[in-house]
Parts: sequence; C-alpha cells; structure tokens
Amino acid sequence: MQSDVRKKIIDAFSNAFGSFVSGQEIADYVGCSRTAVWKHIEELRNEGYVLEAIRNKGYRIISAPGNVTSNEIQIGLQTTAFGQNIHYEESVDSTQKIANRLANEDAAEGTIVIAEEQTLGKGRLSRNWHSPKFTGIWMSLILRPNIPFHEAPQLTLLAAVAVAQAIEDVTELTPEIKWPNDLLIKGKKVTGILTELQAESDRIHSVIIGIGVNVNQKLSDFPKELQDIATSLFIESGVSISRAALIQQILRNMEKLYHTYLQHGFSPVKLLWESYAVSLGKELKATTVNETIIGKALGITDSGVLLLEDKTGKVHPIYSADITI
Ligand code: BTN
Repeated sequence: MQSDVRKKIIDAFSNAFGSFVSGQEIADYVGCSRTAVWKHIEELRNEGYVLEAIRNKGYRIISAPGNVTSNEIQIGLQTTAFGQNIHYEESVDSTQKIANRLANEDAAEGTIVIAEEQTLGKGRLSRNWHSPKFTGIWMSLILRPNIPFHEAPQLTLLAAVAVAQAIEDVTELTPEIKWPNDLLIKGKKVTGILTELQAESDRIHSVIIGIGVNVNQKLSDFPKELQDIATSLFIESGVSISRAALIQQILRNMEKLYHTYLQHGFSPVKLLWESYAVSLGKELKATTVNETIIGKALGITDSGVLLLEDKTGKVHPIYSADITI
C-alpha cells in the first residue's frame, strides 16, 4: 500500500538519524524500486520536507515541515510504544473525544490523537480550552495501566512532570507546576492536562491523558480574557519552537517515566513533581464544588492528593479544586 511505502521511507530516514541513506538502501528496506523511492521523495519535497541529495551518497533529511502530522512526529521519535500509532486530524472538536472512541475500539497503549486545531477543546472543571490552528500541541494519549482506579490521578502528575522536563529539554525555559497539573511560566499558564478514565468497577480499561501546550502563539492570538493568565513558549523565550520536536520529547519522557512508575511506583514521580511544584509551603486558596479552603500547602499524598492546613491546624485533603496562589 502507498502509505506503508511512505511510512517505511520515513522510517529509513529516521533510522539514519540525519545521515545519508542511498536510494538503493531505501529501496531494499522498503522492498520497492529506486524509481518508486525517487517518486516518494519528490512527494515529500512537495509537502515541505527539505531533503538533500548528493551523488554517490544518497539522501538525507534536513528538516520536516512545521506541522504535526504522523510523519513529522515519527521521524527521529525515540520511543517503543508512545506515539508509534498516531491518529492525526487537521481540525477536530476535541482530541479527547476521538481518543475515547479509539480506546473503546481497543487502540494500543501509547496511541496518540493529535490535531492542528480543536474547535471545542475541553479543559478541567468543564471549561473550554483555546486551541487555535498550527500554534500549539493538542494531543491525547491512550494508556492502559494495570493499576487500581484510585491511583489514576498519579498519572496526571506524571504527565505534568514529563511535559515540564520536555519544555526544559527543548527550550531555555523552566516551568513550574501548580497542583495538580498546570504548568506555569512566570505565573502564567503554558500547559494544561486533562485526564479521563474508562473503567468498569475497580478495573481501569483506559486512561486518556489530554495535553494542551501553548507553543507558538503571540499574545494577540489569545482572547482578551486569557491574555493576563496564559502564555506561550514563544512569548516567554522569543524563539519559535518546533512543535514536532517538543511532542517527540514529551512522548519520550512520558514513556520513560511511565515505565519507572510501573516498576517502582509513585515515589520517584512524586519526588520529581515536588521539585517543580510552585505551591508547596505556600498559602493557597482551593475552590472545590462545595467550599473554599484557605491554607498552607503541606504536600501531596502518595495518591497525588493535595494537603492543605488551615489556620486552626486542620488538614484538608483536596481531591479536585481550582487553586489560586
Ligand atoms: C486544563 O483545563 O488545564 C486542561 C486542558 C487540557 C487541554 C487538552 S488539549 C488536548 C486535549 N483535548 C482536549 O479537548 N483537551 C485536552
């Protein structure tokens, strides 16, 4: 099939890590003629790939186009499962919705749904998530962990750590985490994470981790009401960031941390989370569905629950709330 050939050609470049691969090597790897390879390479060029061709050496990939299709993400992706299956759409209502459907259809663990734009992006606490075209990362990842239902929130904290690390790896910026999973730069939100579960009784069928990262928006790309509270990596660093490179790094970090978590439990993740936490030791206001609690953030429990100590010394476990620092 045409798309299989394309995927294998991309694989061949990916395996070469930026070195030259000869037309014959690609043809042998893919199992097609050199003419077919040449035709596909021309098509890749038309799609915006920059490929260098040198006689007697072959081809080498210089850069992929700036969007986040499966090809862009898979070239150079250093994971074994996360992002190996990609469902890409230019425009969707919400990647969470598609990921939930794919999870029901038995999609493999590590499958991601990614879109250039979301028209009805979902945030926490039934809010909307602003997801304009070509500027951010709007992605949902399907996990199938064999853990008890009540431990699932730990995966949200794990995702926050993996994204924070990826931002540090790819930019000069250091984000902070506001409980449970908002990533802030200079106090403004750059990333939100939404975790949804599919479960029967105490058995988790799947966990869908939705990650929204504001990457290349200019201030004027945000609606007025968000301009004081949201930011992007571009606004903070002054540099335009490759979304595909950041996605690859997020997937790499997530996969690594997820394996650590499955082998050694939540403690190593908790330590990392605490190292990024902005809220610990500070006075916070937690607005839950029932009440508002003001208190000092003592830390998080092994289930990822925030502990707030009020003026009377009473410690309140906070499971879900809007936090103001
Ligand atoms: C939050 O409110 O902080 C969570 C925002 C989560 C947004 C992401 S973008 C990708 C995925 N699809 C959605 O509709 N929402 C999540």
